[in-house]
Amino acid sequence: MTDGVPIAALGDLPARVTLVEVGPRDGLQNETAMVSPADRAALIDALAAAGLPAVEAGAFVSPDRVPQMAGTAEVLSRVGRHASLRLPVLVPNGRGLDDALAAGAREVAVFGAASETFSRRNINCSIAESLDRFADVARRARAAGVAVRGYVSCVLGCPYEGPVDAKAVRDVAAALLDLGCFEVSLGDTIGIGSAGGMAGLLDAVTATIPVNRLAVHCHDTYGQALANILVALSAGVSVIDCAIAGLGGCPYAPGASGNVATEDVVHMLDGLGIATGVDADRLLDASRLAVALVGHPPLGRVARARLAGADG
Ligand code: HMG
Ligand code: MG
Repeated sequence: MTDGVPIAALGDLPARVTLVEVGPRDGLQNETAMVSPADRAALIDALAAAGLPAVEAGAFVSPDRVPQMAGTAEVLSRVGRHASLRLPVLVPNGRGLDDALAAGAREVAVFGAASETFSRRNINCSIAESLDRFADVARRARAAGVAVRGYVSCVLGCPYEGPVDAKAVRDVAAALLDLGCFEVSLGDTIGIGSAGGMAGLLDAVTATIPVNRLAVHCHDTYGQALANILVALSAGVSVIDCAIAGLGGCPYAPGASGNVATEDVVHMLDGLGIATGVDADRLLDASRLAVALVGHPPLGRVARARLAGADG
């Protein structure tokens, strides 16, 4: 790599990282508090004001299955104008895409899995069926000029099946890229992965998939997310998903806790000299709003320390 940050002990790290903030979707989908579309839009505005370039705004899924994401169209209509802010929304099927297009979404994300059981529990179809659906979604989205991101869940373990084969992850990721996703985010849905597991996974996946088409999405259930992200950075990954205040989980991944906290990732990247465009102080304004909306303290360590005044 020629444009990296050279740190001898770590190899060359990317000079710049794109953070994809998933708190208003992944974070709020797992909260007991039902946050109104107006408040969700205000949170997105605060995240954009802190400099986040992409904020997942919600999901066009069944409101019976994930009631917290009802009103995503209203969220999109209420978000203020921010130059070049990306606002991806989750779309599981054609119905979701119809709703997303009607709401004016410019980026959608399809979400598959490397585990059959998780796929059935989460979106009620097999992996093969999901890829057929996503192919149709991606074809129609792209014809409408809408960008398509992809997820693979359970890349380092499944809440139902246990260990997951890296080859299954690579196959689903390759299928998502083939059907038109511009990037695939590898989801450690239950946050069980270790640094060694992440290194092995990325070795296997990047054997056939260019690393610049990959992102990582690390839940922090076992407290390993930052270590796993550092491994991903040293493997050349430069897109990191994260959630304000460390919120998050998946209603179909029992025992999974929040995503890696955006505040923690920004602190680590600032310390490594890696540019993100995010202002850590303004990010804290978004942390304060997020905790007020969900009604409990932040799960990430940096926000916990700073909101408690540990930085003076
Ligand atoms: P289904 O029950 O198989 O769908 O749901 P169906 O086609 O049989 O339809 C049943 C009813 O749902 C019908 O309504 C449809 O119209 C309606 P009825 O005729 O009974 O009145 N329906 C919809 N309504 C709204 N939006 C839609 C939609 N589609 C059908 N898009 C479905 C299939 C996928 C919709 C359902 O299983 C679902 O909504 N699942 C929720 C999945 C979800 O949101 N999971 C959490 C996000 S994924 C995640 O967190 C992981 C991630 O963060 C990465 C990681 O951490 O690894 C991304
Ligand atoms: Mg997730």
